[in-house]
Amino acid sequence: MSNYHIKHLEEYYQVYRKSVRNPSAFWEEIAEEHFMWRRKWDNVLSWDFSKPEVKWFEGAKLNITENCIDRHLFTRGDKTAIIFEPNSPDEEALHISYKELHERVCKFANVLKNNGIKKGDRVCIYLPMIPELAVSVLACARIGAIHSVVFAGFSANALATRINDCDCKMVITSDGSYRGAKTLDLKSIVDDAVENCPGVDTVLVAKRINSEINMVQDRDQWLQPLLDEASTDCQPEIMDAEDPLFILYTSGSTGTPKGMVHSTAGYMVYTAYTFKNVFQYREPDVYWCTADIGWITGHSYIVYGPLCNGATTVMFEGVPNYPTFSRFWEIVEKHKVNQFYTAPTAIRALAKEGVSHLEKHDLSSLKVLGTVGEPINEEAWHWYDDNVGKKKSPIVDTWWQTETGGIMITPIAFCTPTKPTYATLPFIGVQPTLMDADGNELTGSQVNGNLCIKFPWPSMARTIWGNHQRYKDTYFSAYENQYFTGDGALRDEVGYYRITGRVDDVIIVSGHNLGTAPIEDTINEHPAVAESAIVGFPHEIKGNALYGYITLKDSGEGRIHDNLRKEINQLITDQIGPIAKLEKIQFTQGLPKTRSGKIMRRILRKIAEGDTSNLGDTSTLLNPEVVESIIEGKK
Ligand code: WT7
Repeated sequence: MSNYHIKHLEEYYQVYRKSVRNPSAFWEEIAEEHFMWRRKWDNVLSWDFSKPEVKWFEGAKLNITENCIDRHLFTRGDKTAIIFEPNSPDEEALHISYKELHERVCKFANVLKNNGIKKGDRVCIYLPMIPELAVSVLACARIGAIHSVVFAGFSANALATRINDCDCKMVITSDGSYRGAKTLDLKSIVDDAVENCPGVDTVLVAKRINSEINMVQDRDQWLQPLLDEASTDCQPEIMDAEDPLFILYTSGSTGTPKGMVHSTAGYMVYTAYTFKNVFQYREPDVYWCTADIGWITGHSYIVYGPLCNGATTVMFEGVPNYPTFSRFWEIVEKHKVNQFYTAPTAIRALAKEGVSHLEKHDLSSLKVLGTVGEPINEEAWHWYDDNVGKKKSPIVDTWWQTETGGIMITPIAFCTPTKPTYATLPFIGVQPTLMDADGNELTGSQVNGNLCIKFPWPSMARTIWGNHQRYKDTYFSAYENQYFTGDGALRDEVGYYRITGRVDDVIIVSGHNLGTAPIEDTINEHPAVAESAIVGFPHEIKGNALYGYITLKDSGEGRIHDNLRKEINQLITDQIGPIAKLEKIQFTQGLPKTRSGKIMRRILRKIAEGDTSNLGDTSTLLNPEVVESIIEGKK
């Protein structure tokens, strides 16, 4: 039996038991047999959740790009590593072999070096889904620079916050991007952002849409001429196991975005191992994850996990509905995709358009379907199963987070019997618990509680950049000696988990994590606004959408006028990005508050959902009369 490659349910249980009885011995064996090390570890695991401090494979030395690229060169040099599928079906797809990827990464790494980037420096990557994105990520890893990829849908303001938070020296961007029928002017967003980023001395610009852009002297450089001149030889920087590999920002329920720091060895081992097993990847399968590399799903399951396994991974630049709603299925047919991994929001959007788009395409290559990002509703699950998988392809509903680095609760394809809306069983080595509000662990089945993890796993984030205290407060303070996920979950009679959603003030809209506080802060900047509260409400396609309750100032500025809703949404678009726009805005006379001044979101949530039959206890409210007027005003 190979622990690296699980093939039956009994094997899963056996390996799982092994992994929790003696985690160090288990992970040591996985690490030893399937990865390339420059030096082995002195100690597999040391941990203390009270600090919190976690170290995996301490003392080991490696470079993750040697594992993702170099070691495949002899056996898979000509094999396609990345298939780049452009936005427009009229443009040809690009097949990048492992050999070519090696060359591109080495050249890019040399360009970084030639521009003063050294081990430990932070580099911000703000690129569309073009090959340069994957290549620049790997180039940073090659020389030990810490990449911080910012999704290229964030506004200048949001970008600047992220650049400054971790003090990036360089930004890598493009002259623009294609998104469906539109082009976006990324470079001017970067220009606006970098104006407020004193630490940035270089901006590298990839050419994608051939638009006229402004190049700032002594700061901006076209990438291609630099690449043309760079050497294809770049020895990998030898990193310590616990050296940071990257920073990726995620929204918190309050405050600024959190720069989650992921380290090298544990992240590599865990993302590779989960990729192989969850999706049951076998060569020469073609695997496609539709996420953007700007999110953790793309980091772990477009780039690092697949490449570490020598897989062929598809990178798609476009959107599901351009030029038509057949686009995804066209791509599946064209590249004979075997594993397809997407988000519930995309499934719902496609389901709404009917099955005619699917029927035109041969989807028989599909073996495994995946979903991630938010709870999948039963209807969407069945639509996916019936029409895309033709009831033959298992659906892996993978629960995890930016913070966890890799998939945590999930079926293993062909091993774990699936159950609609259930993420099912913990992955190997993962020890989930359900906790009640009083800090007691809920044992047994048929229980519903707050989802925690009681033992470290290799790819967990090690800290929040520049703020270890916040890391501790956010994840390790709710329950003693447990990592608290922020999600609620229930466990059924066979031990399957169903994730019920966030239990904090984070709202997941179209699979994107949004904190309410930063959006409220932005709205409150509008001169007419006195105060605001955001809640989520169910949305057919997006899963959740944002409902904003806004009170206006008593003074002259606080008048409702025709454009006010537009202005508020424009402000949000400018400050955060279009994903955070409000679906509904209701102007109210006041907001329901407790005597201590806390907004009672629970009530606002119910009103937004249209369920006012039972608003629960309102006796603690300072201003109960306001609730009636809000219900009236909604009608
Ligand atoms: C939050 C994390 C992990 C990559 C994408 C999101 C929700 C994620 C599932 C799932 C139910 C899910 C959780 C989690 N979530 N996957 N399969 N079922 N909920 O990463 O942006 O860090 O968001 O997404 O609420 O806490 P993220």
